[in-house]
Amino acid sequence: MSFESEINRRRTFAIVSHPDAGKTTLTEKLLLFGGAIRVAGAVKSNKIKKGATSDFMEIERQRGISVATSVMGFEYDGYKVNILDTPGHQDFQEDTFRTLTAVDSVIIVIDAAKGVEPQTEKLMNVCRMRKTPVIVFINKLDRPSKDIFELLDEVENQLKIKTNPLSWPINSGPDFKGVYNIFNKSLKLFKPSVQEIEEGIAFDDIHNPELEKHIGGDAVQLREELDLVYGVYPEFDIDAYLAGDLAPVFFGSALYNFGIQELLDTFVRIAPSPRPSHTEERTIDPYEDKFTGFVFKIHANIDPNHRSRIAFVKICSGKFIRNNMYKNVRTDKTFRISSPTAFMAAQKEVIDEAYPGDIIGVPDTGNLIIGDTLTEGENIHFKGLPSFSPELFRYIENADPMRSKQLEKGIDQLMEEGVAQLFVSQFNGRKIIGTVGQLQFEVIQFRLEHEYNAKCRFEMLSMYKACWVESDNPKALEEFKKRKHQKMAKDKRGRDVFMADSQFILDMTQNEFKDIRFHFTSEF
Ligand code: G4P
Repeated sequence: MSFESEINRRRTFAIVSHPDAGKTTLTEKLLLFGGAIRVAGAVKSNKIKKGATSDFMEIERQRGISVATSVMGFEYDGYKVNILDTPGHQDFQEDTFRTLTAVDSVIIVIDAAKGVEPQTEKLMNVCRMRKTPVIVFINKLDRPSKDIFELLDEVENQLKIKTNPLSWPINSGPDFKGVYNIFNKSLKLFKPSVQEIEEGIAFDDIHNPELEKHIGGDAVQLREELDLVYGVYPEFDIDAYLAGDLAPVFFGSALYNFGIQELLDTFVRIAPSPRPSHTEERTIDPYEDKFTGFVFKIHANIDPNHRSRIAFVKICSGKFIRNNMYKNVRTDKTFRISSPTAFMAAQKEVIDEAYPGDIIGVPDTGNLIIGDTLTEGENIHFKGLPSFSPELFRYIENADPMRSKQLEKGIDQLMEEGVAQLFVSQFNGRKIIGTVGQLQFEVIQFRLEHEYNAKCRFEMLSMYKACWVESDNPKALEEFKKRKHQKMAKDKRGRDVFMADSQFILDMTQNEFKDIRFHFTSEF
């Protein structure tokens, strides 16, 4: 197969949702269709269940699972599908945001009874920032749902994206009859006890009285609703979808494997193949000859007995070839990747080559960090792996003076893995850990102890936000840093960060120092 065809047939995407909407179940059903797994239940939920926040064994177990299921590749109908998993727990949302930089499109799962939930909104904001094409799957139609028109309005208003239903549910809950596929004009009937694949019935004209034979009295309502749908929603515009301005919507029940094949069939046809990526220097086209890629995720110490790390590299252009020499632009060092792994069927296997859109696992001994760009020699830097302002802060202290080296090393490596962010106060030199959730502090403490044999203590720090500051006026910046020196810190790259105590203080400071720009992500 030609290089171009290999790229064109790749579909690299993530499934995201508010916890419990059905992301894991949907992932599993897609893998079943792809033949990547044989039985339901094979994919374990990559999430820490509610109430288990201090169950460290659970965290460890999840980490092991999450490496195995971080990337799941399979072949379907001539397409190479790569699903990137994202952590369900909101305390790990930064990890999710980074994963979203490595995908070409996204499927958002929404619970039909709950509608748009807070986490869904946050994830959509990231997609919107990056103009990522989004498909919405409304799940759990086997349970009573919200009114469908209201749901679609909710998606439009809260997720701030136009919608276009490509299928339409016939009732919900105990009366759920199935869906009418608007995209290919067919009817698919729901039978709760049946989980296997059934073909839809071609049904061009919904005014045909045959419809009653299939869905009885519900036919009247379906016709009314579809007339409204055809009146309200224009014909599906694939370009608007690819531009990230329009979300096609599907309905179904992941649990009962219903509506999933329609989703998958349409997905592979309309979802984008690898898209150009942006670097600080220029735009990289996937079809360029030369290999480029970037590290978006690092998993360290999967096996505590071996200091094993895996760096996840997204290939952006060119063909990756095993044993070729590639350059890490940050360190200016060239190295050979001799045992890269692909993630097919949730299993790792060594591969000889890979194409744009693919994710490879690179065993690493500490030379790679998140955000690193790999090339055949060109000096470029991929954009789009920002750190977000954390929301919780603690001082971190050494609790075992004999093991301060181990602690330093552990903190460094965990920060490189992106578990949390480290700031150093310019006022008292103390280290501050910033996270988005309480759980991360527990994970850090546990992993420092178990993987680095180091003990730490956290000290409460009441802080509202860390903002990266800059100014075109060096004098004004110096003046600001002097006046606020008690609240100034440096991030891991040595950049100036202002630690605001409260929203009120942040507002006041922003008003007072007009020459200073305050940023809430590290990429500006
Ligand atoms: P998540 O990854 O988005 O967090 O959600 P997950 O797939 O784990 O699903 C959350 C719960 O919702 C699970 O039940 C799952 O079985 C259920 N679920 C998923 N899809 C559907 C659906 O289409 N219909 C119905 N009725 N339920 C669905 P659980 O009891 O929390 O977990 P489990 O013990 O069944 O694993």
